[in-house]
Amino acid sequence: MPSDTLTITDNRTGKTYEIPIADGTIRATDLRQIKTSADDFGLMPYDPGYMNTASCRSRITYIDGDAGILEYRGYPIDQLAEHSTFLEVAYLLLYGELPNQAQLQDWTNRVTWHSMLHENVKKFMDGFRYDAHPMTMFVSTVAALSAFYPDAKNISDKENRHKQIRRLVAKAPTLAAFAYRHLLGRPYVYPDNDLSYTGNFLNMLFRRVAEPRYKPNPVLERALDILFILHADHEQNCSTSTMRMVGSSQADPYSALAAAASALYGPLHGGANEAVLTMLREIGSKDRIPEFIKKVKAGEGRLMGFGHRVYKNYDPRAKIIKRTADQVFEATGKNPLIDVAVELERIALEDEYFVKRRLYPNVDFYSGIIYQAMGFPTEVFTVLFAIPRTIGWLAQWEELINDNEQKIGRPRQIYLGARTRDYVSMDKREAVIA
Ligand code: SDX
Repeated sequence: MPSDTLTITDNRTGKTYEIPIADGTIRATDLRQIKTSADDFGLMPYDPGYMNTASCRSRITYIDGDAGILEYRGYPIDQLAEHSTFLEVAYLLLYGELPNQAQLQDWTNRVTWHSMLHENVKKFMDGFRYDAHPMTMFVSTVAALSAFYPDAKNISDKENRHKQIRRLVAKAPTLAAFAYRHLLGRPYVYPDNDLSYTGNFLNMLFRRVAEPRYKPNPVLERALDILFILHADHEQNCSTSTMRMVGSSQADPYSALAAAASALYGPLHGGANEAVLTMLREIGSKDRIPEFIKKVKAGEGRLMGFGHRVYKNYDPRAKIIKRTADQVFEATGKNPLIDVAVELERIALEDEYFVKRRLYPNVDFYSGIIYQAMGFPTEVFTVLFAIPRTIGWLAQWEELINDNEQKIGRPRQIYLGARTRDYVSMDKREAVIA
């Protein structure tokens, strides 16, 4: 009868070890017993970039990269995008089940209640230069909220944690809108709690000062809601792993989320949607695509918005975003860059370089084209990713706090540097070759 174990023979010693297999994994600490002598530290797995390392057990988001499957708490992303709303999905990610009508209404009221920012936050934001990148403002201001809510340090109290979670879900759009208005040199627009989550966001972004009440375009309001659903969580990506790492030291959720948002800012992660627009603008027209592809294949840059650590198939979110683009263009007029993007995708999907490396469009390939058509400057695109991902980061943080297996994150290393050597007096030193 085959057993769920791995038999390892250490050819250095001839010894054999039985390592238990559970959930398709072995425990890294089980390798420590494999030694060549009593004072040997024992074996460690070495996995730069965590290409093949599970960091936690989770029940929030399931991805099958080969099949191109994405499910939130077991619900397929395309069904949620079609039938749900972002706030309902936020509830699902955090609590694990879809809310009934009363629960959804209560959750919506309790989140909406927190959409305002302390007046001092405006002074904090006014301290940035006129051209400060909105993502820098978002990261800094989220961290600053830690000083406005010192009770957030009490992470062992569940109701206190959930109050901070509701505050962050509610304030993320307000922070983002204030950063956008700062970039344009326009006065801040306060939340209108009679509007939906995305309707209020559009209000705080685009309401003209003379306008008594803002009426969001329902097509854009719904398109943004779908985009927020698609960006809400994605299991243990770079920024979520950062949220978990910082959360593992029992830092408050504002400090941990600021770190997660910093990780998202990178062009290989959430910064890719901004980089895609820059790339499409540089290409400019369909006839210049072959020249661009040639440069990418020569290693002179990347096809931004393509490729994924997990998806080795079409990112299911990209398909839905591409469909949503057509609805947005009916309201905003077609973004001409969509033709360049569609042709770029067609050529890339037929090219051996991309096919061999299983590089497909990811969530960032088409999202920026929609955002630009909706009137957002590219500097705001990554903030538009951070807003919905706030609930994903927080749901994963909540799961970490409740996971008795988790400890403070502290990886090991392979040390290659110099070992024990005596201090050298200044008169005996050679110039350092940096
Ligand atoms: C997000 O993890 C998540 O879930 C993230 C995310 C989420 O929701 O949280 O899905 C959001 O971050 C999406 C990804 C957005 N980033 C981009 O679009 C930037 C462009 N893509 C890449 O830089 C890259 O594909 C990554 C970063 C997304 C994945 O990188 P990996 O898994 O480390 O793969 P790799 O860099 O080792 O690449 C493998 C090969 C290499 O070629 P060889 O060295 O084998 O010859 O594929 C090549 C790479 O050069 N390659 C690309 C490429 N991506 C990988 N070549 C050209 N263009 C690309 N985009």
